[in-house]
Amino acid sequence: MDASVSLRELMRIVIVGHVDHGKSTLVGRLFHETGSLPDGKFEAIKAMCERRGMPFEWAFLMDAFQSERDQGITIDTAQIWFKTEKRDYTIIDAPGHREFIKNMITGASSAEAALMLIDAGQGIQQQSRLHAFLLSLLGVKQIAVLVNKMDLVDFAEGRFREIERTYTDYLGSLGIVPTYIIPVAARDGDNIVNQSARMPWYKGPSLVAALDSFQPAAPLSELPLRLPIQDIYKFDERRILAGRVASGRLKVGDTLVFSPSNKTARIATIESWSAPARDRAEAGESVGITLDEQLFIERGDIASHVETAPMETNVFAAKLFWLGKTPLHLGQTYRLRLQTREVNVIVESIKCLYDPESFSAVASESVGRNDIAEVVLRSPALLALDGAADNPRTGRFVLSDGGNIVAGGIISLEGYPDQRPMVTVRSGNITAVAHGITTAQRARRNGHAGGVLWFTGLSGAGKSTIAMAVEQELFRRGFHVFVLDGDNVRRGLSANLGFAPEDRAENIRRIGEVAALFAESGQIVITAFISPYRTDRQRARLALEGSDATGGFHEIFIDADIATCERRDPKGLYLKARTGEIPDFTGVSAPYEAPLAPELVIDTDALSVGDAVADVVAYVEARFRRLE
Ligand code: ADX
Repeated sequence: MDASVSLRELMRIVIVGHVDHGKSTLVGRLFHETGSLPDGKFEAIKAMCERRGMPFEWAFLMDAFQSERDQGITIDTAQIWFKTEKRDYTIIDAPGHREFIKNMITGASSAEAALMLIDAGQGIQQQSRLHAFLLSLLGVKQIAVLVNKMDLVDFAEGRFREIERTYTDYLGSLGIVPTYIIPVAARDGDNIVNQSARMPWYKGPSLVAALDSFQPAAPLSELPLRLPIQDIYKFDERRILAGRVASGRLKVGDTLVFSPSNKTARIATIESWSAPARDRAEAGESVGITLDEQLFIERGDIASHVETAPMETNVFAAKLFWLGKTPLHLGQTYRLRLQTREVNVIVESIKCLYDPESFSAVASESVGRNDIAEVVLRSPALLALDGAADNPRTGRFVLSDGGNIVAGGIISLEGYPDQRPMVTVRSGNITAVAHGITTAQRARRNGHAGGVLWFTGLSGAGKSTIAMAVEQELFRRGFHVFVLDGDNVRRGLSANLGFAPEDRAENIRRIGEVAALFAESGQIVITAFISPYRTDRQRARLALEGSDATGGFHEIFIDADIATCERRDPKGLYLKARTGEIPDFTGVSAPYEAPLAPELVIDTDALSVGDAVADVVAYVEARFRRLE
């Protein structure tokens, strides 16, 4: 590759197709038609065929390339590439679907576009479906379907339309809209570079025109800045934070936020090893930076710009490719490596296992070697994450077990809230003011302590019903009690919040704080919110524990099967959720994280409302009375 070529734009494409559908022929012809073959190659193979008395085959070209690669003759052994007027292309080898998906998930190769080959005579086969399934799994969006060997069906438009219709329908069911469907005869070069005169009914672009119309992925330097900190060096008074810029750009004077510590400072200098100081750097470069303030930064922190910071969460969903000798199990702990950060994660759930033979998602308790699964991982610490769709570098991770790599995965941020707003404090110059009345005085007058009964559970589990009945009974018994109910609070205090993960987290943050204030005032507060995230409930507990209330925080799991809730469906919402009318519905299309160690469980599958109320009231009597 000469220097002028390497400056051109490069696009990575993957070609998938049934072994017999003409992949090598297509690639050989494509190289020839675009003038990408080394000088004399074509002639040499042709002469060789004549010498041996064999008909010339385009596939021989690829075989020749292949054997050169095997012998290490070509310089670029990892990839083969061809060029059009517009740019260069690299073809990613996809020898088998296992290797293909493993490479794509672990990031060894990530294709920006795909060519899918179908044989016009044989039509759509099991493998064509499988390939479409794999592409949908990996999120490759730019796809050209090539209906090959049109010469064998006499260039019949009818046959082409039939395949076009069936395959478009099938792809549609996977959420894929093929960008182009092109009839070709790869062997003869029809519709490869030029419009074929033998298929005048086809008005779309040729293969090369189609490829050239695809959008390249944004270069890493165009993405938001991610600088994972690798080391911190101390020289005299100076601290140099060192790392390799994973994406984006930075310059002296930029304000950086470090995640997950959430501290900010400005870049004072950019140092580079054995080179003079400079004022900017971009993706791919190793840099050392100094800040205008001394912050306590650790290896594994990620620096970004404030407006485009990564998401902070300790729980996330991921698709992973399992390589471990022993299967992945629910509840098992692994070591997660995310750029320069390493933390333990526990497998909280296995949402589904993809079966590439039947291309369907199935439920499972474990994931075997070479399986692809969708899982939920939880870490004790906050992590700074990007979705794989947003950042191909920081959106990937590796899991290890006892030092061995056991999985490669891609991150999906759907379903879980960004915790950053929850841990960011914006108010300054605040001084707490003391009350003139003590908590003990309040409890003495009320005859009971103030505290929180935090009900959590699915919609329809019975939270509101039980909460209101408990409120009545406690009131009758002389308790100062008040219910904060989801549907009520969402009309006022939380009227500006919906059901997106961030909104739910903010809803629960508000309720947690309000409940702590009520409790401090001496009341018993019953909260009836789905509160689906464990982390949010923990934060509500901390709010109460940080207050002067002495009655404590009591997590009460109002437990009912999703099937039961759906059967009850008091507001008809499950029905709407199932038909897609309500998105992000807890238990249907949004997660619910059941409490791990609730203070009390009320099983409404088994208990009547009266019995449930009696249990809660007895619980309160035993813990809240303060009699002198
Ligand atoms: S929470 O998730 O933020 O805790 P909250 O308890 O306030 O939810 O509100 C739940 C109530 O809102 C449900 O009982 C139901 O009536 C209604 N609702 C409307 N849309 C949704 C949804 N997408 N998911 C769950 N509940 C919903």
